[in-house]
Amino acid sequence: FLWGVGSSAYQTEGAWDKDGKGPSIWDAFTHKKGKVFRNETGDSACDGYYKVKDDIQLLKELKVNHYLFSISWPRIMPTGIKTEQVNEKGIQFYNDTINSLLENNIIPIVSLYHWDLPQVLQEKYGGWQNRSMINYFNDYANLCFEKFGDRVKHWITFNDPWAVAVKGYDTGEHAPGLKLGGCGAYKAAHHLIKAHAKVWHSYNDTWRSEQQGMVGISLTSGWGEPIDPHNETDKAAAERYIQFHLGWFANPIYKGDYPEVMKIYVGKKSAQQGLGTSRLPTFSAQEKTYIKGTSDFLGIGHFTTCYVLQKNYPSLQVPSYHTDYDLAELVDPKWPAPGPKWLYFVPWGFRRLLNFIKTQYRNPVIYVTENGVSEKIQCTQLCDEWRIEYLKGYINEILKAVNDGVNVKGYTAWSLLDKFEWNKGFSERFGFYYIDFKNKNKPRYPKASADYYKKMISANGFPNPREVDNWYGEAMDSCSTTHQCLTTDSLIAHMEIVTEIVLPTVFTLCILISIVLLIFYLRNHS
Ligand code: BGC
Repeated sequence: FLWGVGSSAYQTEGAWDKDGKGPSIWDAFTHKKGKVFRNETGDSACDGYYKVKDDIQLLKELKVNHYLFSISWPRIMPTGIKTEQVNEKGIQFYNDTINSLLENNIIPIVSLYHWDLPQVLQEKYGGWQNRSMINYFNDYANLCFEKFGDRVKHWITFNDPWAVAVKGYDTGEHAPGLKLGGCGAYKAAHHLIKAHAKVWHSYNDTWRSEQQGMVGISLTSGWGEPIDPHNETDKAAAERYIQFHLGWFANPIYKGDYPEVMKIYVGKKSAQQGLGTSRLPTFSAQEKTYIKGTSDFLGIGHFTTCYVLQKNYPSLQVPSYHTDYDLAELVDPKWPAPGPKWLYFVPWGFRRLLNFIKTQYRNPVIYVTENGVSEKIQCTQLCDEWRIEYLKGYINEILKAVNDGVNVKGYTAWSLLDKFEWNKGFSERFGFYYIDFKNKNKPRYPKASADYYKKMISANGFPNPREVDNWYGEAMDSCSTTHQCLTTDSLIAHMEIVTEIVLPTVFTLCILISIVLLIFYLRNHS
């Protein structure tokens, strides 16, 4: 069983325009006002580009088996197009990262796409609305296999394509920020699925025999529980919830087509809206065969659960993905909400989701690629006991699922560092390591959960309740010491600002005032 932590390029690297990197859609999006909380950007993020060695040291401290990170497409192909330009410095950066990981016995699990499409491809072709992305993405993936595939054996094509499609092309909360009225998300998803399949086939045909690696996709989904498990309508609504989230991508890959319920609902709504064809595109028979079976493992991201009930949306409403599946989501006010508004602590939902995958897709090999919680407390909080509770609760349910026969082979906690959280800016902190973003050195400080997770990894799970309780006590002791360091460091950083900016400014002002006074004096006395 592999234990690890994850991160992604745009959220951590920074250096957005350094060493030949081209802009991504996230650079363009965050540079527009009003798109991100407090207009924050990932321009420097965690400065991960400059701190690879430091971060690998943190991974060593945690004793993880693997590190999941993503490659920034525009860092190695500035325009996104291979024939136009390949950026050797970008290749060098990822080569160094992979080599350092391996030198430290850490397995690299690499995502090819964690949302940062090259901006040129967005401007020229409309990004994932355009089918030409399939070939451009395939060229990029092949370059990655060629350059890094001798050492990387676990590849993820897309991380959370649901968010790419829905938030990027329907609600517009994410880059590229388009609101395409109920068509855009389905079209984007259609191209993402085809691009995934094409890359899997490329690996299978060209690289697999020599490199012996695996290619999968990472799907992020909550669990939807019927509000009344004895009510058929609620049960059907909960089934739609999961099919419109997970099944949308998993069904074509494991069964060759979109879920029936999606075809029925989007088709029905499109007809009611006076459209001649469904907003959900169709795969040809040939495409279905080509896409089916294109995953050597399934990556699963999971954060929370909700209750689901039937809710009819009037069909005359402006078409949108969210009104296509006629349901409402509720939460139990008794569920703890340690993090942001959308993230409730409901560990049993994860076991149900994993069992659903087992029965629906014939028990595939699963790697948990994202699972974690952020904090809503705005002040520095290193004693994150709620993250410890979350980890304990969710990992316990995953281990129960393993006992149920679900084929989970690894767990990736999300995330190594506090980082840029998309449209929420830096306001949500998911990390095991706290970053003082105001300090220009971006120092990292371990939270209590880092100590706890480290012990869980070393024990390969939960040995016995007494020991697990001890871990908790020790973790809580560790964080108060770190807190003192953080306070001292931020005081020093503050004083550095005083010496670097305030003092020279005051000094210059004094000289200017003296000169003015001297001129006055000389004038009056001449
Ligand atoms: C995304 C991550 C993000 C997390 C929490 C996931 O679906 O892939 O990048 O940090 O959600 O918002």
